[in-house]
Amino acid sequence: MEPIILTENLKKVYHVGKVDVPALRGVDLLVHEGEFVAIVGPSGCGKSTLLHILGGLTSPTSGKVLVDGNDFSKMTDADRTRFRRHKIGFVFQRFNLLPTLTARNNIEIAQHIQGNGYNPHRFEAVVEMLGIKDKLDYKPYALSGGEQQRVAIARAVICEPKILLADEPTGNLDTENSQVVLNMLRTLNRNFRQTIVMITHNPEAAAVADRTIRMRDGYILPD
Ligand SMILES: Nc1ncnc2c1ncn2[C@@H]1O[C@H](COP(=O)(O)OP(=O)(O)OP(=O)(O)O)[C@@H](O)[C@H]1O
Ligand SMILES: [Mg+2]
Repeated sequence: MEPIILTENLKKVYHVGKVDVPALRGVDLLVHEGEFVAIVGPSGCGKSTLLHILGGLTSPTSGKVLVDGNDFSKMTDADRTRFRRHKIGFVFQRFNLLPTLTARNNIEIAQHIQGNGYNPHRFEAVVEMLGIKDKLDYKPYALSGGEQQRVAIARAVICEPKILLADEPTGNLDTENSQVVLNMLRTLNRNFRQTIVMITHNPEAAAVADRTIRMRDGYILPD
C-alpha cells in the first residue's frame, strides 16, 4: 500500500491577540491509499485543525505535510487551491448544501467548479450507491438530515477525490441516520477504494473504520 498522507512533526499555533494557542504540538501521521481512518479525541485536542491542514485549508506553523506526494510547503496558494479542488473532498457536520439548488444541482455544481464537466457515469454510480436517486429533484429543506448528508457526501466524492476528509459527518444526525451514513462511507471505501479520514466523537462511528487514531492535547497517542 502506498502512503497517501504523511505528516512529520506537524505543529500549529494560533495567535489570538497576544495569546498563542498551540493546537498541534508535533503530529506524525501516516495514512495509506485506500484506508478508512477514524480520528478521535476530546474537544479542543486539534482534530479539526489537523484535518484542515491535510486538506490545504490551513497552513501549519511548522512541520511537513505530504499529500499524494505533494509537499504543501513547496506549493503556492494557487497550486494548493487547485490541488484541493481536484484531490480532496470535504464533508462537514453541517451539511452546507446550497439551499436554493436541488440535490442534483448541488452535486453537479461540484463537477462544474472542478472544471472537468459533467460525468454521467460517475454521477449515476454515486447517487445509486448513496441511495438518493429518487431525491435528486428535492431542495435541501425537503430532505431529512440523513439525506442531506448523503447529498453532501455525493458532492464531495463526485469528482473522484484522492481523499475524503470528514469532520464529524454524523454529528448532526440521530442514531439511525448516523448508521446509514456510516454504512455508506464504509461502502464507498470498499467499492471505490476511497481513502477516508473521518473525525468523530462517536465510538460506533470509529468502529466502522479500519483504524482509529487517538489524539490528546495536540498529539497523536501511541497505539
Ligand atoms: N481559528 C482559530 N483561532 C484560534 N484558535 C483556534 C482556531 N481554531 C482552533 N483553535 C484552537 O485550537 C485548539 C484545537 O482546536 P480544534 O478545532 O482543532 O479542536 P477539535 O479537536 O476539532 O475540537 P472539537 O472536538 O470541539 O471540534 C483549540 O484550543 C481551539 O480553541
Ligand atoms: Mg473539531
